[in-house]
Amino acid sequence: MEKKDARIIVFGNEKGGTGKSTLAMHIVVGLLNEGHRVAVIDLDSRQKSVARYLQNRQTFMANGGDTVHMPAFAVVTHSDASLIKDRETEDQKNLQTALNEFKESVEFIIIDCPGNDTYLSRLAHALADTLVTPINDSFVDLDLLGEVSAESYEVKKLSFYSEMVWDSRKFRSASGKPPMDWVVIRSRLASLDSRNNKRVHKVLESLQKRIMFRYVPGLYERVIYKELFPRGLTVLDMVNVTNLSHVAARQEVRSLLEKLNLS
Ligand SMILES: Nc1ncnc2c1ncn2[C@@H]1O[C@H](COP(=O)(O)OP(=O)(O)O)[C@@H](O)[C@H]1O
Ligand SMILES: [Mg+2]
Repeated sequence: MEKKDARIIVFGNEKGGTGKSTLAMHIVVGLLNEGHRVAVIDLDSRQKSVARYLQNRQTFMANGGDTVHMPAFAVVTHSDASLIKDRETEDQKNLQTALNEFKESVEFIIIDCPGNDTYLSRLAHALADTLVTPINDSFVDLDLLGEVSAESYEVKKLSFYSEMVWDSRKFRSASGKPPMDWVVIRSRLASLDSRNNKRVHKVLESLQKRIMFRYVPGLYERVIYKELFPRGLTVLDMVNVTNLSHVAARQEVRSLLEKLNLS
């Protein structure tokens, strides 16, 4: 039987703090727990959140914690060559080297992007079989997708980021690849069902047809997502969960994993 190429899942947007790295780690652990072989590439060489998450995970085990699954892993740093052309060639080469290292041995490659526009991030977007874009629950974040009319909620103009995703899609179809599945996730949701919440929901429903993404609810804002970082754990690693909020957190991660349709 012919081996399928590893599925590339990119976590990207052009803003920090929306939950890309936290979500990426949860999806990685979800896939590992299902028995899949997974590799992670961290392109955010400044924050290195996923790299740090995984180091913490390793240390947790080394210090006598329970054994938890680990993915294969690489950080790709941005080139600091002085000429743009050289920087781009080097970035391309380094990303390709990381992909080549993993693509034969895993089923999923998760790429975590920085929260700003970089050449490496663009390269990753053009490779995405699934692109996951978390946005926070506000009109400020909706602007990252497109400019929306205050009265009718119509999309007036695509954002720079949406244009970039559009270009990545064109590039994919020109090279004969199946279409990218772009999933926009509302992340760090407020627990109150506020008026703002409903408005954002309405706008996303109309934006998804216009910009062609799938819109799915994501994770609520919960302290547990912050607390687990120092041990490198996710809510899916916790055993004997009794706290109701933790049970709900696990359930929302599982439900998200299902909606991503990865396997
Ligand atoms: N669902 C959530 N609930 C509470 N805190 C969260 C949640 N998602 C992320 N965070 C916290 O928000 C901050 C930014 O998250 P991070 O995943 O690093 O975002 P990004 O990678 O988009 O910059 C971190 O302190 C993280 O612990
Ligand atoms: Mg990050």
